[in-house]
Amino acid sequence: METVLNGLLCVAQALFLWLQSVVLFFVPAKYREKSVSGDVALITGAGSGIGRLLALRLAKRGARIVTWDVNAEGNEETVRQIRAAGGEAHAYTCDLSNREVIYKTAERVKREVGKVRAAHRGDIGENST
Ligand SMILES: NC(=O)c1ccc[n+]([C@@H]2O[C@H](COP(=O)([O-])OP(=O)(O)OC[C@H]3O[C@@H](n4cnc5c(N)ncnc54)[C@H](O)[C@@H]3O)[C@@H](O)[C@H]2O)c1
Repeated sequence: METVLNGLLCVAQALFLWLQSVVLFFVPAKYREKSVSGDVALITGAGSGIGRLLALRLAKRGARIVTWDVNAEGNEETVRQIRAAGGEAHAYTCDLSNREVIYKTAERVKREVGKVRAAHRGDIGENST
């Protein structure tokens, strides 16, 4: 009996997800995406790679970007690219392996830019420690 119920539940869920995807297919992307316009978004590891791409993407969508990276040069370059595209960005050199530095930088960001609404990690991955 339990197996039959689980099977029915599975079919119902699959049907629901299929219907949801059909409906969403006809809804334009701009109505499906959450607005980040005006939000302060903190991106760690924004000095290159995934973090930089994420920072540029969020800035394009109107977020006020705060970049943290241990590599000051790369971090500044990300900010330069965002500003050149008309966005707002603030670079902070921060070593994420140092708890004290993290707390101090967070205080500075709160004071100088405002309360962070969303944080994204571009510095960590499967090979990170
Ligand atoms: N690029 C890929 O296709 C890919 C795929 C899977 C996983 N990953 C993982 O995702 C993570 C990011 O990848 P990426 O290609 O963007 O790497 P990346 O080296 O281009 O960027 C990482 C950034 O993090 C910064 N960083 C590193 N240690 C830091 C620290 N202690 N404090 C502050 N900043 C620090 C670096 O200075 C650099 O700017 C990596 O851990 C990688 O292993 C990447």
